[in-house]
Amino acid sequence: MARYELVKRSVALITLTNPPVNALSSPVRHAIAKSMERALSDPKVTAVVICGENGRFCGGADIREFAGPLRGPPLIPVLDAIEAGRKPVVAAIEGVALGGGFELALVCHYRIAHSKARLGLPEVTLGILPAAGGSQRLPRLIGIPAALELITTGRHISAQEALKLGIVDQVTDQNACEMAVEFALKSVGKPLSSRRVSMLTTPCPPDLDALLEAATMQVKKKARGVMAPLACIQAVRAAATMPFSKGMKRESELMTTLFNSGQAQAFQYCFFAQRTAGKWTLPSGAQWNNSKPREIRSAAVIGLGTMGRGIVVSLARVGISVIAVESEKKLLENGRQMVIGMLERDAKRRGVSASLNLLKFTLSLQDLKDVDLVIEAVFEDMALKKRVFQELSKVCRPTTLLCTNTSGLDVDALAGVTNRPHLVAGMHFFSPAHVMKLLEVVCGPRSSSETIATAMSLGKKMGKVSVAVGNCPGFVGNRMLKPYLDQATFLLEEGATPEQIDKALEDFGFAMGVFRMSDLAGLDVGWRVRKESGLTGPDVDSKNPPRRRQGHRYCPIPDMVCEQGRFGQKTGRGWYMYDKPGDTNAKPDPLIQNLLETYRSRYGIQPRNISDQEIIERCLFVLANEGFRILEDGMAARPEDIDVIYLFGYAFPRHRGGPMFYVSMVGLERVLERLEHYHQAHPDVPHLEPSALLKKLVACGSPPVQKWREYIKTMHSHL
Ligand code: CAA
Ligand code: NAI
Repeated sequence: MARYELVKRSVALITLTNPPVNALSSPVRHAIAKSMERALSDPKVTAVVICGENGRFCGGADIREFAGPLRGPPLIPVLDAIEAGRKPVVAAIEGVALGGGFELALVCHYRIAHSKARLGLPEVTLGILPAAGGSQRLPRLIGIPAALELITTGRHISAQEALKLGIVDQVTDQNACEMAVEFALKSVGKPLSSRRVSMLTTPCPPDLDALLEAATMQVKKKARGVMAPLACIQAVRAAATMPFSKGMKRESELMTTLFNSGQAQAFQYCFFAQRTAGKWTLPSGAQWNNSKPREIRSAAVIGLGTMGRGIVVSLARVGISVIAVESEKKLLENGRQMVIGMLERDAKRRGVSASLNLLKFTLSLQDLKDVDLVIEAVFEDMALKKRVFQELSKVCRPTTLLCTNTSGLDVDALAGVTNRPHLVAGMHFFSPAHVMKLLEVVCGPRSSSETIATAMSLGKKMGKVSVAVGNCPGFVGNRMLKPYLDQATFLLEEGATPEQIDKALEDFGFAMGVFRMSDLAGLDVGWRVRKESGLTGPDVDSKNPPRRRQGHRYCPIPDMVCEQGRFGQKTGRGWYMYDKPGDTNAKPDPLIQNLLETYRSRYGIQPRNISDQEIIERCLFVLANEGFRILEDGMAARPEDIDVIYLFGYAFPRHRGGPMFYVSMVGLERVLERLEHYHQAHPDVPHLEPSALLKKLVACGSPPVQKWREYIKTMHSHL
C-alpha cells in the first residue's frame, strides 16, 4: 500500500501503491503512518519524498469506505505527524492530487508538481467538505478569496495555476519524483516552521463579512438547497477567525453534519453511478470489457437544425472530420454559419484554434461514400427517416455505421430498411447537443456489439456520459418524462398554477420547474409529438376537447396553449409571459390564469388547494414508477443508469441522487402507499398504478438501490 525505499543514501521515498488512483484507504493510511515513523526515526534519513505509483499522486479518500464505519487510523493524525516532523517532507505531485490527496500535499513542507498534474479539493461535489484540514490550511496558504473559490466549487486546477496561487513551489516537465528528491536534499537543515501551513496566519481581508456573504448568495443561487457549499463557507470563515486547532474542531463538526445528511450519500451515489453507467451488457453476453469499438475518423451529420449543428460541433472539436448535409441551399448556408460560429466561440473559450478545416458542407448524400459513421438528425418523421436510411444504405460503404438521433422512434424499424441492420443504433443527444453531457445509446435488437461499443466509445470521446438503453418509445429519459409532464398538467386542471408547481419543484432542487423548462424548450415540440401519435389533431373538437383519449385521462390544456401560438420563450408567450420573444425572465400571465379558470368552469372542475407535498409526490413518484417499469421491461440495465440519465439529461438535482435513488431514500413502502392512494383517486391514470417491480422490492424488504439489480436479473433484458 506504500513502498518504502532509501534513495541517494539519505532520502526516504514513500510511494503510495493503491491503483488505480492511490486512494487513501485504511491500509494506505496505515502504511503512510508506519513509513513516516520509520523515516523520522532512522538517523540515516535526512529528508522524505512522498509520491504515488503509476504517475498519480493521490485521488483522495477511498470514497467506498464512506459507507461503513471508520477502520484503521484516521487521516488527520497521520497528516499532522507529517507536518510536525523535524525532517523536510516534499510531495512529488504527478497526475492528480485531489481531496485527501491534496490535503496530504498541504502537510508536506514543499510541493513539486509535474506540469500536467491537476490539483483540487472536490469534496463539495461529494456533498462534504475538505475535512482533513484542507478547509483550514488552504486559506492560510493562499488567502480567503482564492481558497473560498476552490473549496466551494471543487474545481480542479492545473499545476501552473497552483504555482501562481502559491500552492506548489515548483513545476517541472521532468520526472517530478526525481526533482523532489533533489529538492529534498537541498532542503535539509533549513528551518521548517514557516513551511508548516497550519502555523501560518490566514491573511484576512478587511471586508471578510461582505466577501462571505457574497459567496453565500452565489452558492445559494447556483446550488439550490445544497448544504455542502454553505458548510464550506462556514469552514473558511473559521479559518479566518479562529486559531488552527479551533478551526479544525469546527471543520469536524460541519463534516459530521454533512455526513449525516442524506445529501452526502446522494452525491457519493452519483459519483459511482456515473462510472457504472458506462459498463453496458447486451443479452448476447457482449459487454463493455469484451467488445472492441471501431475507431471513428470521419463522420456525417444529416440535418443542420437545432440538434444537427450541436452534433457537428461535438464531433469536430475532438478531431473527427465531419460532412454536414442539408436539404436546401439556404438551410445549408445558414447551418454552415451557425456551426462555424459555435465552433469559433467554443475554441475561443477553450483557448485553442477552431478545427474548421475538418468541416465539409453538402446537399448531396452521394458525398458520404467513405465516412466511418453517419448520425441522422432530420425531422422526427418516420417516413422521412426511413427514406434517408434507405438512401444511406445504397450510398455508404457496407461497413459504415448508421445512427439516428431520433428522440423516441423505433430504431429497429430504421435498421430494417437498410442492408446492414447490425450496424444501426440510436445516438440520442440532448439539446443543446454540444453542451449537454448525456448520450443515450439505443441498442436495437439487431445492433451488433461492435456498433454499441463504437457508439459508447465515440460518446466518451466527445466528453459525453453515455448510457446504453433499450429500443422502446421514448427510450428511457423521454419515456419517463411523459407521465411526469402529464401529472403537472393534471394538477393544473385540479387547481394548481404553473407558478405553484414550478416553485414546488424548484424548492425540491430543480433549477427550473416543469413549465419554465417547457417554455425554454419550446411547447410546439411536444404538440407535434402529440399530433403524430394521434392524441390531438384536426379531428378533435377544439371547443370542447375531450379529457379522455386513447382510453386514458388526457389534459388538453397544453394543446390549447399552443393553439394560441404560445410556444414559450421564443414567441414571448407560453406558460408564462416574457417582455419580448427570446427573453428569459418568466412572469405569471393573467391570460393563463384566465384560461385555467374558464377551462375548469367549462368542465365543472371545482379547484382545490393542492399542497407542495402532493405536487412533489405525484410528479416524482410517477417518474420513478415509470423507471421501475423500464427496469422490468429490461430497457435500462440498472437504476443507476436511469439516475445518470436524469442527472445529466434532465438536470435532476444531484443532491437528490436521481429519481430512483430519491424514492429509495423516501422509502419504497411509503412510495408504494402514496402511489396506491393517488391511483385510487385517479383510476384513469395508469401511470399512477404501482409497478410490479416496486411491489416486489417492497415485499422483499425494500433493499437499497445498489441491490435492486439482483431482483431485476431474472427479468428479460433488451440490453
Ligand atoms: N475512492 C474510491 N474509488 C475511486 C476514487 C476514490 N477517491 N477515485 C476514483 N475511484 C475509482 C472509480 O470509481 C473507478 O472505479 P472503477 O474502475 O471500478 O469504475 C476508478 O477509480 C477509476 O476512476 P475514473 O474512471 O474516474 O478514472 P479517471 O482517470 O477518469 O479519473 C480521477 C481519475 C480524476 C481521480 C477521478 O476518479 C476522480 O475525480 N476521483 C475522485 C476524486 C475525489 O473526489 N477525491 C476526493 C475524495 S473525498 C476526500 O478525499 C475527503 C477526505 O479527505 C476525507
Ligand atoms: P430541426 O427541425 O431543428 O432540424 C431538422 C433539420 O433537418 C432541418 O434543418 C431540415 O432542413 C433538415 N432536413 C430535413 N430533411 C432533410 C434531408 N432529407 N436531408 C438533409 N436535411 C434534412 O429538428 P431538431 O430539433 O434538430 O431534431 C432533429 C432530430 O433530433 C429529430 O429526430 C428530433 O426528434 C431529435 N431530437 C431533438 C431534440 C430537441 O430538443 N430538439 C432532442 C433530441 C433529439
